[in-house]
Amino acid sequence: MSEPSRSRVFVTRVIPALGLDRITSACDADVWRDPLPPSREVLLAKVAGCDGVLSLLSEQIDAQFMDAAGPQLKVISNFAVGFNNVDVAEATRRGIRVGNTPDVLTEATADMAFGLLLAASRRIVEGQDYIRSGRWKTWEPLGHIGVDLPGKTIGIVGMGRIGHALARRCHGGWGMRVLYHDRLRDLEAERKLSAEPVEFDDLLAQSDFISVHTDLNESTRGLFDRAAFRKMKPTAVFINTARGPIHHQLDLYHALRDSEIFAAGLDVTDPEPIASDDPLLTLPNCVIAPHVASATISSRNGMAEIAADNLLAGLNDEPLRCWVNPG
Ligand code: GLV
Repeated sequence: MSEPSRSRVFVTRVIPALGLDRITSACDADVWRDPLPPSREVLLAKVAGCDGVLSLLSEQIDAQFMDAAGPQLKVISNFAVGFNNVDVAEATRRGIRVGNTPDVLTEATADMAFGLLLAASRRIVEGQDYIRSGRWKTWEPLGHIGVDLPGKTIGIVGMGRIGHALARRCHGGWGMRVLYHDRLRDLEAERKLSAEPVEFDDLLAQSDFISVHTDLNESTRGLFDRAAFRKMKPTAVFINTARGPIHHQLDLYHALRDSEIFAAGLDVTDPEPIASDDPLLTLPNCVIAPHVASATISSRNGMAEIAADNLLAGLNDEPLRCWVNPG
């Protein structure tokens, strides 16, 4: 008797073995093993006939992609908490389940936001560049002056899980006042951290540090433009660990160059990777990391487990563990 055929899946990059091994043992899996993503053309050819896809945020999962896969495609398991790379409305229309990987990266991402905040405020990376280029000649009473953190005001834009986790660090560890701007109230943050919901412009005007934790959508694209930076304090530090297009990158460059704000710390850029001739790279007061906020052992293992659970559940027509488009 012939064995029942196994589901065909395409996995667009090698992910931690905790998830990948379960996928390769349960499915007929084609795993893209190159560290760089497949070209669009190759991606569309690879997904043809697949029942499921495990994708990264670098893949655009749109109607063209779903057409290329074919009508048997049941599930898209995105290895990320964000899913702005997936046309969820189109997937829902076609009855395709979409999964993401929340929670397991909350603390790591909040740590990264705080790390960037500290690095940009205290000019840590600039100091390292100073040493490496042989400019450190003596201890300088007036050199390398940064901004203080204790007792300042943090403004959180997007008070979801990650924004809340950063607010906890800033309030509990550094005694900061917490302002936040969101469509929804975070009553726990208001109760436990004395967080205050405010209008966007008030947050810009009053905060010493502003950290972005909202998702990328049509109302947040370009939210931080020249006008927004001009409403911030000249001593303000801007942090973005969410999505690059939430800030207007050239406007950010001008604001930093012209000292309209003090510094910025970015884990995300627009585009990604950042162009090697992007003027931001010439500025000492901008710290940039290559989108690595979730890059810790436990976060990436947790993401791999959830992504595998989501993929296998979708192939079996079961509810996904972390389901973006249920019902
Ligand atoms: C990373 O940016 C993610 O959305 O998980």
